[in-house]
Amino acid sequence: MIGDYGTGGADQLKVSQAMQKFVTESGVKPAGLWMLGDNFYSVDKAGFTTESTRWTKEIEEMYPASVFPGPMWAALGNHDYHDNPGGEKVQMAYAQKPSVRWKMPTKWYRFDLGPQDKPLVTFICLDSNLPAVSGAPDKKTKKSRGSLTAAEEKEQLAWLKAELAKPRAPFTIAVAHHPLYSNGDHGDTKALIAQWEPIFQEHKVHAYVCGHDHDLQHLEMKGLFTTHLLSGGGGAKTRKLEGKQEVPFGKDVHGFTHLQITADTLTFTHHSADGAALHTVTKKQDGSFQVG
Ligand SMILES: [Fe+2]
Repeated sequence: MIGDYGTGGADQLKVSQAMQKFVTESGVKPAGLWMLGDNFYSVDKAGFTTESTRWTKEIEEMYPASVFPGPMWAALGNHDYHDNPGGEKVQMAYAQKPSVRWKMPTKWYRFDLGPQDKPLVTFICLDSNLPAVSGAPDKKTKKSRGSLTAAEEKEQLAWLKAELAKPRAPFTIAVAHHPLYSNGDHGDTKALIAQWEPIFQEHKVHAYVCGHDHDLQHLEMKGLFTTHLLSGGGGAKTRKLEGKQEVPFGKDVHGFTHLQITADTLTFTHHSADGAALHTVTKKQDGSFQVG
């Protein structure tokens, strides 16, 4: 898993190389990659389309299929809406091209991973770009910026509730770009806490994985079933942690997060770009967790 990576710069390359080294040295056979949003920063001056060279250079070659043959499940970040207006549509259209690994069937989607008759994890990908989260006009230019529409927000919420009420695998992980809780410089996202947290608790969502702040975090909020992981170190410039919530882990470094899934456990490990395993948390079906 990586978030906040789409710069095309040296740090993105450094993290991608650390991911490749990890796969080669550990012998892990990756089932897929989770792209946690802010997949493409900055305006593509040639015009951002499904044919843009950025897809080749910053996605296909950056995370080579020889090392990561599985799907690249992707979530939309604020920069995916803002930096190239309509970019979210381009990202969904790219996923429709034949034989690409990029997966973004819709702005929000579900799939179950593992054997078809006995899946291990239900993944719920959400679009955290609610109008209240990232729909405000740009502070400097006053120009309006893209996000979900109010109608889409309503539709996604109804879909989320319906999907969690259906049969699921023993583990459920929700994924989106913005954090609910964060000790990073953006801090907590109140609109998401208000909208999603009660639903995650009611339906016992085991983990919520996100990015947006440019660091790596593991947060446990008192009395909550859900473990929160933030993996926003994929390439954009890191930012100092500013929050004061007492949580198991936070570090403003570049890196990625490895998720290992077994029938009984989810194990998340944050790795820095120099390859060091920084922090591990294991989550069990009953909601209990263990650090290390
Ligand atoms: Fe972001």
